[in-house]
Amino acid sequence: MAGRIPQPFIDDVVARSDIVEIIGARVPLKKAGREFKACCPFHNEKSPSFWVSPDKQFYHCFGCGAHGTVIGFLMQYEKMEFFDAVADLAQRAGLEVPREAQKSGEPGSVDLHNVMGLIARFFEQNLADNIRAQKYVDARGIDAKTTAKFALGYAPDSWDALLNRFGSQEEERRQIHQLGMIIDRDTRGGERAAGFYDRFRDRLMFPIRDSRGRVIGFGGRIIDQGEPKYLNSPETPLFHKGRELYGLYEARQARSDFKRLMIVEGYMDVVRLHQAGITYAVATLGTATTQEHLNKVFRLTSEVVFCFDGDRAGRQAAWRAMENSLPLARDGRELKFMFLPEGHDPDTLVAEEGPDAFENRLNSALPLSEYLIQQLAIEVDLTHVDGRAKLKALAAPLFARMPEGIYREMLADRLAARVSMPAAALKKSFLAGAAAGANSAAMDRPEPSMRHRSRISSGRGNLLTQAITLILHYPAAAAAVSDTEGLDQVDRPGVAVLKELLKQAAAASNPSTAVLLEQWRDLPEYERLAELAMAEPLVAGAEGAAKELQMAVEKLIQECGPGRRMDELLRKAEELGLNYDEKAELSLLLKSKGRPRANP
Ligand code: GTP
Ligand code: MN
Repeated sequence: MAGRIPQPFIDDVVARSDIVEIIGARVPLKKAGREFKACCPFHNEKSPSFWVSPDKQFYHCFGCGAHGTVIGFLMQYEKMEFFDAVADLAQRAGLEVPREAQKSGEPGSVDLHNVMGLIARFFEQNLADNIRAQKYVDARGIDAKTTAKFALGYAPDSWDALLNRFGSQEEERRQIHQLGMIIDRDTRGGERAAGFYDRFRDRLMFPIRDSRGRVIGFGGRIIDQGEPKYLNSPETPLFHKGRELYGLYEARQARSDFKRLMIVEGYMDVVRLHQAGITYAVATLGTATTQEHLNKVFRLTSEVVFCFDGDRAGRQAAWRAMENSLPLARDGRELKFMFLPEGHDPDTLVAEEGPDAFENRLNSALPLSEYLIQQLAIEVDLTHVDGRAKLKALAAPLFARMPEGIYREMLADRLAARVSMPAAALKKSFLAGAAAGANSAAMDRPEPSMRHRSRISSGRGNLLTQAITLILHYPAAAAAVSDTEGLDQVDRPGVAVLKELLKQAAAASNPSTAVLLEQWRDLPEYERLAELAMAEPLVAGAEGAAKELQMAVEKLIQECGPGRRMDELLRKAEELGLNYDEKAELSLLLKSKGRPRANP
C-alpha cells in the first residue's frame, strides 16, 4: 500500500523508545524488582496492578487486562491514532517518518488523498446544482447544516461526468481508477477503446473520512429506487472497508471524550442521528462489526452500544457482532445490544419520537452476556434437562472465546442460573472443555495424545505455545533455532505463526517483545500473542530460553513432522497392513530419512 509506514521503521521506533520513560512521564511508576508498577490509568483502583516491563517493553494491567507496547500505550492513553503515535515517538527519537517507497511514476498517497478531496467537492457542488438530488435530500429530512457537516454530495446521472472532469490525462485516469472511482470497461469484443466509466452514477454520495478528516472512499445511495441501493468504494490503497466506521471523524469533531459510542447499521442512520444531536453514532460500511472496528472504538470509549433494526437481518447482524466482540469483552468495558421495533431503523425512529425518547431506549439495552443467553434460550426448551444441556453446549464455545475476567464470570453465573447448575461446577466444566482443546484457538491445540507430551511441558501449554512464548519473551533466543526447514514439514495449526515469529526475530536488529508484537497489530493472532507475551516466563534468562526453544522446536518436528507420520505408518503396517497409497508414502518417507539433513 502506498504511503504506509515501513515495518522496519516501526521496529526501529519501538526499539529506540523506552516504555518506562514514556509511561513514567504520565503515570507515577514505582520500581518493583525488574519491573515497574502503578495504579492502573485505565481503570479505578486503590492498589497497583498495572505493570511495566522494561525487558519486554510491554505494559499489562492484571486488573482490567489493558496491555500493549509503547505505541499501544499512546493510543490507549492519549487516544492517538496509530500513525500519530508512531510519529510522536519518532520525533522524540529524532527520526523522520518515511513512507513506503512508491514505484516510479506512481503517485503518492498525498496525491491520492488530494484527488479524493477534490472529487468530494465536485460531488458537493453537483448536489447544490441538482434540483432532483436536493429534493431527495429534503425528502429524507436532512437539513443544510447536516449536509455540510457530512459533506454530502451527488454523483451525476452520467457515465463519464467524473471521468471527464478528473480523467482527461492518462496519468489522472490511472489515479482515479486506483481510487475506485471509475471502472475499466469489459475489454472483450475489441471494445478496449471504450475505456472507463464512472462507478457512481445518480447517487447521493456519503464521503467516508479517516481519522484526520481526509476522504478515503464513498458510499453512494441510489436516488429513489434502483439496484443496488447502496454502493461502496472498493478496497483501494486508501480505503479498507473492514477497518472504517462511517461518522467516526464527525463524532470526534463533536467531542473528543465520549461516554459511549453507538454502532448502527446505515449511513442514513448516522446522518439523521447526528442531526438529532446524537453525535456519538457511527456505522460499519454494510459489513459485520470486526474486531478491528471494536479495537478502534474501544480506544475512544469504554462503552459500545450496538443498535440494530428489529428485522431478521438486524438480528443476524447482532449475533455476528456479538461473536466478534467476545474476545474483546474485558473488564472495564461495556458492550450492549439494543433492538428497535420491527419495521424501524434509527433514521425513522428518531424522526418519529425525537432524540430524548430514542436515547431512553438505551436504558433497555441488553448487556452482552444477557443478550447471548437470551438468544440461545430461544433455541432450546429450558424446562427440560436436554434443553438445559443443549444450552450449556451452545454456550461453551462462546464462553471459551472470552478472556478471563468479570464478563466471563458474569456469563457463567447467569448461565448457571438458567441451567440450574452451581456456577462453580459450570465454570469448571467449561474450563475443562476449553483445555481439552474443543474450542480453543488453533494455535493452542493440545498435543494429540498424552503419549506425545513433551518433557519440557512441565510449564504450561503445548510445544507450539511454549516455543511461541519463549520467542516472545526472549526474541534473541530465536537465533538458536537452526532447523526452520524441518518446521515446514510440521502440519499443525499455528506453526505458521511460529515460523513467522522466528523470521521476524531473526530480521530485527534489536528485537524485543514489543518489536515482535507490533508486527502483528492488525492481525487476528495479535490478542493471543499479547496474552502469551504477558504470561509468566517459562524460564529465567535468555540462555535457558535458547536451549528450551531449540528443544521445543526439535520435539515439534519429531512429533508432528514426517517422522511421526512414518512411525504411524510403520505401526499400521505391522498391525493392519497398508494400502497402496500408504505404502508409496512410507517408502518415500524412508528414503528421505536416509538423506542427510541440511542442518544437522
Ligand atoms: P435507507 O433506505 O437509505 O434508509 O438506507 P438504510 O440505511 O436504512 O439501509 P439498510 O438498512 O437497507 O442498509 C443498511 C446499510 O447496509 C446501508 O447503509 C449500507 O451500508 C448497507 N447496504 C444496504 N443495501 C445495500 C446494497 O444494496 N449494497 C451494499 N453494498 N450495501 C448495502
Ligand atoms: Mn433507513
